[in-house]
Amino acid sequence: MSSVYMPIESGLPAYFLPMLDDKDRNDLYSKAIQETISAFKVEQGRAPRVLDLGCGTGMLSVFALRHGAEHVTALDLNRNMVTLASRTLACCGFPRSSYKVVCGTIKDAKTRTRTAFHPEQPFDILVSEILGTLATSENLYEHTQAVVPHMNKFSNVQGGVYVVPRKVTVTAGLYKFDGLFSGSSEVHPIKQAFDGVLPLMDGNDVILMSSQNLSFPLHLMEPKLLGAEPTVIREDSFRVEEGKNSWVQKELCGGFKNITADSVTLTGECYLVLEWTATLSEQTVLKNTVGQYQQFDIRNSHARHAQWGFLFGRVGDPDVQLQLDSVMVKASGWDKGVPRIEVKKVAANPANPNKRARLEDE
Ligand SMILES: C[S@@+](CC[C@H](N)C(=O)[O-])C[C@H]1O[C@@H](n2cnc3c(N)ncnc32)[C@H](O)[C@@H]1O
Repeated sequence: MSSVYMPIESGLPAYFLPMLDDKDRNDLYSKAIQETISAFKVEQGRAPRVLDLGCGTGMLSVFALRHGAEHVTALDLNRNMVTLASRTLACCGFPRSSYKVVCGTIKDAKTRTRTAFHPEQPFDILVSEILGTLATSENLYEHTQAVVPHMNKFSNVQGGVYVVPRKVTVTAGLYKFDGLFSGSSEVHPIKQAFDGVLPLMDGNDVILMSSQNLSFPLHLMEPKLLGAEPTVIREDSFRVEEGKNSWVQKELCGGFKNITADSVTLTGECYLVLEWTATLSEQTVLKNTVGQYQQFDIRNSHARHAQWGFLFGRVGDPDVQLQLDSVMVKASGWDKGVPRIEVKKVAANPANPNKRARLEDE
């Protein structure tokens, strides 16, 4: 049975400092909040009341007030973060009447917490950055779903509500890391380090681990994406249907999907990397992808990696040097926002290309 992640109720999680140093994340959230508040003012003719769910240090609440919100409610289940957010907002000099910082969360029937918050008035805009290594790993979808009944709905707006982010997409890409294996046939020291921490596949199951456990991050290992674009394995859209009080859809990948172009022949040493993209507003997209990290300067890529990094797993065993034609991936079941990944491999058979062996059938 799947369960939902609940954050710790005190203390400063280790990811907070690098998170604040992630300029790309901060700038994009600021831009998206500005764009959403401006659109709200134009379309509704007044300033909005904003909810910041999982306010942490209060940075998104500051953006909302700076960009013209009438009032912000900053909510966090962690009492130390609530103290920090209160200080941040006070230091910024906003009038005390323009914000409220609350320890707790908006609860639905399934949320187990003692600190439930019951809003007195509905909110016009929801902003939230409770994104994890995998976009889904802090259960953004489930936690924000509980807020929908407390939001004003607008029939003149696409999606019926104002929310940042609007859509979150998780993808699975197949990579080679050439920096690991090039050179001599002797065991490469980085590969050896990799072997020490990354488990082999167990049957058809890919065992996932966080790239933060590596001393040398994935994006610095000469990554090469195999085949076409990474495959979508989950897409959460944060919009409502008229008259409804829940998000419209949650697409989980059911059956197996081919994740490499058929023409690509894979040798054994390949890795599945789970990446994600959050559409924060119409104009603003936040990417936690290997390719995006490579475009950052070293400081931003370090901050992003220390904050999020990637979930990844072995698909081909480097020692076997198996020739594969393609790999198909399925996300079956999500526990605490983390998928169980199964793969099927299709082995190349040059002698008889019409009779390719499905490895799982062997
Ligand atoms: C990734 S941090 C983001 C902090 C802040 N939004 C920022 O951008 O600086 C997530 C924060 O959300 C809080 N949180 C996560 N889920 C929550 C929930 N369902 N209700 C209230 N707080 C939550 C955590 O305690 C943590 O402080």
